[in-house]
Amino acid sequence: MTQPGKVLYIIVCAAGPAAHVGRLVTLAQDDGWTVQLIATPPALGFIDVPTLEKQTGRPVRSQYRKQHEPRSPRADAIIVAPATYNTINKFAQGIADTYALGVLSEAPGLGIPVVILPFVNTALANRTAFLHSVEILRAEGIHILLGPGKFAPHAPGAGGDRIDAYPWQRALSELAELSS
Ligand SMILES: Cc1cc2nc3c(=O)[nH]c(=O)nc-3n(C[C@H](O)[C@H](O)[C@H](O)COP(=O)(O)O)c2cc1C
Repeated sequence: MTQPGKVLYIIVCAAGPAAHVGRLVTLAQDDGWTVQLIATPPALGFIDVPTLEKQTGRPVRSQYRKQHEPRSPRADAIIVAPATYNTINKFAQGIADTYALGVLSEAPGLGIPVVILPFVNTALANRTAFLHSVEILRAEGIHILLGPGKFAPHAPGAGGDRIDAYPWQRALSELAELSS
């Protein structure tokens, strides 16, 4: 679905599929979104920042801006992909110790739709803490693509085999469904 002139924040966390987040950028741009990429600090080690900055035409943000630096355009929607166990749990608990989490913390209160596409293994996804985090976030209206027909956690050690099949498009389809 085309979203002309609208701004999509893509928050990328430190998990295997992060190296291919450019695929999501392309899909989003094809749908008409202006993309602002935000990386967690550990995700910077997984992504090719210069290539992504060329692709989006915007700086990749990973830290709060300095006072003299310009603000990013306001987000109309946010996708977190790949979303880690760490960032999902911290988002649910209201922790804002990275720029990405600061942006996410304000999103529900600002009415900005958030879609989370996790990439976690079953050892992490079955933890009580994680299950609670998913419940907490869903109760706040956050869309977590976890479960049948969405994202299925992989067996520990098998993540590398799942990277190519990571369903980037599913996150965009979810956003499109929200606005239709
Ligand atoms: C090579 C590598 C692969 C990783 N893959 C995952 C993963 O698939 N899912 C996950 O939740 N964490 C994964 N981690 C652990 C996260 O990188 C770690 O929890 C980190 O603190 C997450 O930070 P962030 O949530 O701020 O991005 C991986 C770490 C490394 C070094």
